[in-house]
Amino acid sequence: MVTGKSPEKSAGQDGSRGAGQSPEGGVGQDGARGVGKSARESRTEQIQVVQQQHINGYRRLFGGQLMAWMDVVAGVTARRHSGHIVTTAFVDNLEFLAPAYIDNLVIINGRVTHTGRTSMEVLVEADTEAMDSSRRPLNQAYFVMVALDETDRPVPVPPLILETEEERREWAAAEKRRAYRQGYRQK
Ligand SMILES: CC(C)(COP(=O)(O)OP(=O)(O)OC[C@H]1O[C@@H](n2cnc3c(N)ncnc32)[C@H](O)[C@@H]1OP(=O)(O)O)[C@@H](O)C(=O)NCCC(=O)NCCS
Repeated sequence: MVTGKSPEKSAGQDGSRGAGQSPEGGVGQDGARGVGKSARESRTEQIQVVQQQHINGYRRLFGGQLMAWMDVVAGVTARRHSGHIVTTAFVDNLEFLAPAYIDNLVIINGRVTHTGRTSMEVLVEADTEAMDSSRRPLNQAYFVMVALDETDRPVPVPPLILETEEERREWAAAEKRRAYRQGYRQK
């Protein structure tokens, strides 16, 4: 997907998190420039209600619908981090863990786990919430989003400021995924 640049903060029906400036710093690489941003500044949450038009012939949420919702959350998260329009370059580890049914809530969260020069890795996690408020993991995937300038060329993104131990662990794992993807592309 390509998300347009606009000032609004929501990703559909969302309860999104606010943005703000971070101190100088961050761990961007390969020529990433400027003031860093933390993952919390671009974190995005979208809530959907599974309705008739979202289900397949087996009364379950259609997988393609969920992928589209997740793609939008990845795009909004990356747009908030970069301040540019973004496009989806790669999606990996997309795993359907459980079904969702009509009237379930689907809660989708996105956060930046890694930044390169022009690309960002966004972890998108989807959970279902049943009537009794119990939650189950539904799906999760890593999206590689690339920031684009007005001529559709990749443009540098702010480096990611790591604030927690978990974020540092995610960064280290993301470096391995990035190396794997680069090897895969060179084949
Ligand atoms: C993604 C795209 C902009 C990359 O353009 P490009 O000319 O290959 O640009 P570059 O080689 O400079 O790569 C730019 C960044 O994207 C990353 N990238 C490009 N293709 C990638 C892929 N298949 N997987 C993972 N990362 C990828 C590069 O690693 C680089 O990241 P970095 O700057 O952080 O190091 C281009 O391939 C494109 O427009 N693809 C179609 C995207 C699209 O339409 N998506 C919607 C799906 S329908």
